[in-house]
Amino acid sequence: MPDENEKRNKHAIADDIMKRLSSEIEKRGIDADTVLVGSLARGTALKNSDVDIFIRFSRNYERAKMERAGLDLGFSIFPDATPKYAEHPYISSVVSGTKVDIVPCYRIEFNTPKISSVDRTPLHTQYMKERLTGKSIEEVILTKLFLRKQGIYGSELKTEGFSGYVCELLILHFGTFYNFMEQMSRLSGRLVIRDNVKEFHSPVVIIDPVDLSRNAGAAVSNDSLSVLKTASKFFLMFPSDDYFYYDENPGTEPVKHERGTYLLALVIERPDIIDDILFPQVHLTRKKLGEFAENMELPLLNIFDHVEEKTVTVLMEFASPSLPSIEKRTGPPAGNMNVVSFIEKHMNSPDFVRGPFVENGRIVIEVRRKITQFRDIFRNNLENINFGKNLNRLKPGASILDNQEEIRKSDAYRAFLSVKSPFLSARKDFKK
Ligand code: UTP
Ligand code: MN
Repeated sequence: MPDENEKRNKHAIADDIMKRLSSEIEKRGIDADTVLVGSLARGTALKNSDVDIFIRFSRNYERAKMERAGLDLGFSIFPDATPKYAEHPYISSVVSGTKVDIVPCYRIEFNTPKISSVDRTPLHTQYMKERLTGKSIEEVILTKLFLRKQGIYGSELKTEGFSGYVCELLILHFGTFYNFMEQMSRLSGRLVIRDNVKEFHSPVVIIDPVDLSRNAGAAVSNDSLSVLKTASKFFLMFPSDDYFYYDENPGTEPVKHERGTYLLALVIERPDIIDDILFPQVHLTRKKLGEFAENMELPLLNIFDHVEEKTVTVLMEFASPSLPSIEKRTGPPAGNMNVVSFIEKHMNSPDFVRGPFVENGRIVIEVRRKITQFRDIFRNNLENINFGKNLNRLKPGASILDNQEEIRKSDAYRAFLSVKSPFLSARKDFKK
């Protein structure tokens, strides 16, 4: 938990920036004001939470003008900052180790149509400030720490977890962290809160009270919800402070065990795009490679993605390196009219090996398989596998690595070996 000193420092940083922004706004004669939003404004910040400052423009400004003026104001405070482009451009910088975002938006009222998705954020802050008391603020912080330890805190597409705002809504609904744990440990199926119209179908539905048409929990994946269900069961069985301590750099311990498997690594250059655009493509690539392996009936055991500074890797682990040199072609049932043409076609093929014979009422013929190594099967088919817009462009430079020793030395493989949900945070003796 952040101590008083850190909180004071963050508030000092925020106050200073907001003062400077306000005087720039006045100097430029812009109809806008600044507002502190996010967890710092609500008292629910963690040690490494960011500072979220919004510039609220009058709705009289055209969108492009508002965005331009917002970026200009941000640059007047941080000339060297990098502009970020999500749905909406904003400025991000770091002040004495704390990330600071300056985000332009429109001034809107509760439950009015928004113009851009960030316009609601100041309303979230207002809503929570009126409802979160001292005690429930602590409960929110416990919730965030617990989820962070389990790797499911944050609504970024990399994490597909619970945002800070969702944690706050969960505490408003469940009252305490403990009650939240009890409910989650017993939950089967989806987590649905206040969806009176049953409009949404995602794994987690939490209607946003400041905009009833929005599901605040839309980002949570079914896997993230499943981690929560499991971790809550173990927390209640073995409650411990360990569930709230999070090691930012746990280090990947090399797990030394012989797996007797065959590895392939797709390695592709990391494109220079924001995480929320990159990660969905990385996940798509993993999914499409997995589907391809399944269609080809390759014995895929695991598939794992790993993003580093310069590269994106998808690691595939198989039970063997190749398919046999023959392939069984199962034809129609013996009573079918196509039996003759099936047999003729295959027996005349240069790849014919054995047969025809009947197995379980069907005609079977064995033919030679031309490409047997998984490495070659992937290399020959990369072109037909969809990696998403930006990764597809980099596909010509992609490679399928098969040097087992090299792969086993890679960071991606080490990360793969270290995969583990800390459900059993308190029970170190469960470990081998
Ligand atoms: P943050 O991601 O900074 O969240 O978004 P936070 O609540 O401040 O939590 P931490 O402590 O930094 O992790 C800032 C605000 O943007 C809105 C919320 O109002 C949030 O408080 N927001 C963000 C959403 O409504 N949905 C999102 O998925 C992300
Ligand atoms: Mn924040």
